[in-house]
Amino acid sequence: MNVLIYENEEQIGIAAGNYMCGQVLAKPNSVLGLATGSTPLKPYGHMIKLYENGAVDFSKVTTFNLDEYCRLDVNDVNSYHRFMHDNLFDHINIPEENINFLDGNAENLEAECAEYERKIKAAGGIDIQLLGIGSNGHIAFNEPSESFQRWTHVVQLKESTIKDNSRFFKSIDEVPTQAVTMGIGSIMQAKRILIIALGENKAKAIKQLIDGNVTPQCPASVLQFHTDVTLMLDKGAASLID
Ligand code: PGA
Repeated sequence: MNVLIYENEEQIGIAAGNYMCGQVLAKPNSVLGLATGSTPLKPYGHMIKLYENGAVDFSKVTTFNLDEYCRLDVNDVNSYHRFMHDNLFDHINIPEENINFLDGNAENLEAECAEYERKIKAAGGIDIQLLGIGSNGHIAFNEPSESFQRWTHVVQLKESTIKDNSRFFKSIDEVPTQAVTMGIGSIMQAKRILIIALGENKAKAIKQLIDGNVTPQCPASVLQFHTDVTLMLDKGAASLID
């Protein structure tokens, strides 16, 4: 794995934004796998800056987002659709029809998940997948469990996740209890993977991802089997690496 350690979040934002845009410069019709959460905010900000400076063109890019809540209006401030539009898509020239999200409001969620896998394949697969990581080693909504969930699927959110995420909602009762997420196999099929982690609360998960046992108890550990993974870490997230 290519492990890069930076002084602070600002520097990671620039490096990760450059990395994503470098992919687009090398292949203008790249397929980007994108993530939500607080970690990608600065990288998205830098991608917007590069676009505004005329350094990169997103008009031929296709995107797939990792996950989405179920039964939440797409315009809700907590929906990942809304997050991506507010923090990236509304500020760059990606055509709306090239943006792909899982529809958490689909009547038949299983069919929606299968269709998403089909769409990723039809687009030629993901060229680069941007990932955050949970302090428990989760990637997307793939939480620690007894086995790796391979493809895009529906998940029942754990009490702990609902509690963690309730800080963004008016009350805990408003937090969705289900989500749809790309699976471990879907993520592993991306040609390149960029993981960003900020802060000491991610250090244990990063240590396990780099040299711990590969186990579904730490879903990110499976990335040891991927041949093109880059980690961008701040000093806190890198603090347990030898
Ligand atoms: P965060 O979430 O970027 O808000 O820390 C990352 C994740 O849980 O995947």
